[in-house]
Amino acid sequence: MTTHQETHHDTVPAATDPATPASGRVTVIGTGYLGATHAACLAELGYDVLGLDTDPAKVADLAAGRLPFYEPGLAELVERHTASGRLAFTTDPREAAEFADLHFVCVGTPQRRDSMAADTSHVTAAVSGLVPHLRRDALLVGKSTVPVGTAAALALHARSVAPDGVEVAVAWNPEFLREGRAVEDTLRPDRIVVGVTDPLHEKVLRELYAPVVDVGVPFVVTDLATSELVKVAANAFLATKISFANAIAELCDAAGADVVALTDAIGRDARIGHQFLSAGLGFGGGCLPKDIRALMARAGELGVDEALTFLREVDAINMRRRSRTVALAVEECGGSVLGRRVAVLGAAFKPGTDDVRDSPALNVAAQLQLQGAHVRVHDPRATATAARTFPTLGYADTVEDAVTGSDLVLHLTEWDEYRALDPAALQPARRVVIDGRNALDAERWAAAGWRVCGLGRPAVGAGVGPAAVSR
Ligand code: UDX
Repeated sequence: MTTHQETHHDTVPAATDPATPASGRVTVIGTGYLGATHAACLAELGYDVLGLDTDPAKVADLAAGRLPFYEPGLAELVERHTASGRLAFTTDPREAAEFADLHFVCVGTPQRRDSMAADTSHVTAAVSGLVPHLRRDALLVGKSTVPVGTAAALALHARSVAPDGVEVAVAWNPEFLREGRAVEDTLRPDRIVVGVTDPLHEKVLRELYAPVVDVGVPFVVTDLATSELVKVAANAFLATKISFANAIAELCDAAGADVVALTDAIGRDARIGHQFLSAGLGFGGGCLPKDIRALMARAGELGVDEALTFLREVDAINMRRRSRTVALAVEECGGSVLGRRVAVLGAAFKPGTDDVRDSPALNVAAQLQLQGAHVRVHDPRATATAARTFPTLGYADTVEDAVTGSDLVLHLTEWDEYRALDPAALQPARRVVIDGRNALDAERWAAAGWRVCGLGRPAVGAGVGPAAVSR
């Protein structure tokens, strides 16, 4: 059962077209990281929002004001707006069809199991589930990251399943939010991009986002194909920038140079900048890895695969970071990790989230375990999600539990609390740490008697050369 209080929306003018948000009502289809954030933020902007998802457990949690994952600031919004009645959730597409004439599609597009391409079946299913129940004309606005051409195909599909006399149009509005900063990125984005086929749809979306755009956020209007590509091109650029830093890190390792000092120096060039230039264990998560692969796959389908073959190298450099870290761990354990006790600090793919999809930290932890190490993983937020994905790894409730008695510590996700650790107070069997994120204060750890190995920088601290273990 969904209930909504009547709310007045000063920012939204009176209806001139059935698909305007003049009713102040929108639906959000798919309530994962993207959809739940979008739904809660639209409620925060004053709209009445109904979230639709096929997962009854997720809907039950959200409807009760509980966020089923960790995202800073989002739980408060979900709680506040489910309580105020402005935000509700359902599994019933008929209810969503009745509720609004503007529907955001926020379902996932994971990598296909059988190829590098994106699996767009959830997007198609979202449309097939909703559109036959529509009784009035509607605008579907895709936010999911999709291969270029999906929006146009979806518009044809929507028309083919719409009831007689009901017009359904499609626009695209890619989402650029980062996990860990999702609320801020949604309410104060760098830009809003909309791909439209009709000026009326631009008007609808301009009105919807007026509270955001009015404070100076650029509103970029393109065609459908360009808007789809903007998103994947942005992610491909970011991935390339990270892999560039990591390629230079490989060179630094070979030459005895320090990639941290190097990237600090080149990042001071305003044309380059420091962001996404941190060398280390590389990128993971639910977006960057699968998006560059889907982009390569789509380029191949369009006959221009040569244009993006460099992304294969970007991917390969990134995956090499994981094997390099494992090799370094083996080296620091004297040639084998068999029977060694290894503490892994970090399981999330980056700090600020409990998301472990394609987490570099867990990948390394699992590889070390496969080579016979006794691995104990700690993460301030992500041990529950990590244990679901890798149930056979050992997990520790505290950093001390993970580190005490260990032969090697790996710092693989740069949570603030790891940077704040007192290295003198830790009680490992051997004071050796691999800083996979080049984020610890190496001098401070060295001063406390640790040998600190970074990625792309010379080791500092106690001992020269690999500190072999003998037992
Ligand atoms: C990314 C995009 O940033 C976002 O705009 C898009 O909407 C979704 O994909 P997200 O996956 O949340 O967001 O994470 P992001 O902050 O981009 O980090 C991705 C990965 O790159 C993480 O594993 C992070 O640790 C790594 N990274 C980031 C680096 O290795 N070095 C860096 O300098 C920056």
